[in-house]
Amino acid sequence: MKIIAGPASRELSHRIAEILKADLIEAAHKIFPDGESYIRLDGDIRGENIVIVQTISPPQDSRLMQLAFMADAAKRAGANRIIAVVPYLAYARQDRVFLPGEPVSIEVIAKMLWAAGIDCLVTVNIHQAKVLERFPMMTRNLSAIPLLAEYLKRRGLEGAFALAPDKGAIHIAEEAARILGGGYGYLEKQRDRYTGQITVTEKAFNVKDKRVIIFDDIISTGGTMVAAAKLLRSHGASSIYVACVHPLLVGDAEKRIMEAGVEEVIGTDSVPSHVSKVSIASIICNELKEFQRG
Ligand code: R5P
Repeated sequence: MKIIAGPASRELSHRIAEILKADLIEAAHKIFPDGESYIRLDGDIRGENIVIVQTISPPQDSRLMQLAFMADAAKRAGANRIIAVVPYLAYARQDRVFLPGEPVSIEVIAKMLWAAGIDCLVTVNIHQAKVLERFPMMTRNLSAIPLLAEYLKRRGLEGAFALAPDKGAIHIAEEAARILGGGYGYLEKQRDRYTGQITVTEKAFNVKDKRVIIFDDIISTGGTMVAAAKLLRSHGASSIYVACVHPLLVGDAEKRIMEAGVEEVIGTDSVPSHVSKVSIASIICNELKEFQRG
């Protein structure tokens, strides 16, 4: 098994190759003056099972193309099986038609990656795991929530209340609470499908004088976390932390979250950022070892 370090996930690729003691191939890449991506794989690939590590965080579209090009280049160079490790899979939130006339974007991505030669896709906390059933290739969805919860526990937050900012993320809060041991709950979130405006309302739980950690899969604009933190503050939470798997942190998202009264933002290296305090390399390696076994 050889690891190809995609341009979007170089550090994570190095960590994975180091743990697995596998050869690492750096994908040479450049962007042409007109914006097109160029990729070249420099290494012996023939007959090998190849793991391409490439997250698809912003700029999503060019990173997606780079992933497809790496898969195609690996196939042409004689790779055996191609496993794509895509910790953050962009477009996963558009997994159905919400308003008439929309595409199901994630299905388009799945077909595109399959056409490029990817035999298996490993991702982390995809927005809705059920969508993977519609993918044409073998898929695995890993969870980084235990890693985040263990980290927060080591940081002294054992017994903190785990909160999901919407009902769809309740399984995440529950998973974290199994490790933190301070109970869990969720908020009701409504997002205006046209304006993107978010409103949250509380469910029946008491956060007065409690330490609360809000867990979510993604922080994009920060709007969800800001609304949730403000609500928790008004209900007397003693301190608020936010943790997510994919810290996209678009624009001034982190600043706005901190201004809403949050102590700290914690994310993983699924999306490299200065809040990426937890590495997902170990869970990816465990999965890849399974592939190696059979
Ligand atoms: C959506 O339901 C996701 O789980 C996140 O809550 C959402 O993507 C976060 O987006 P934003 O940070 O822009 O509110």
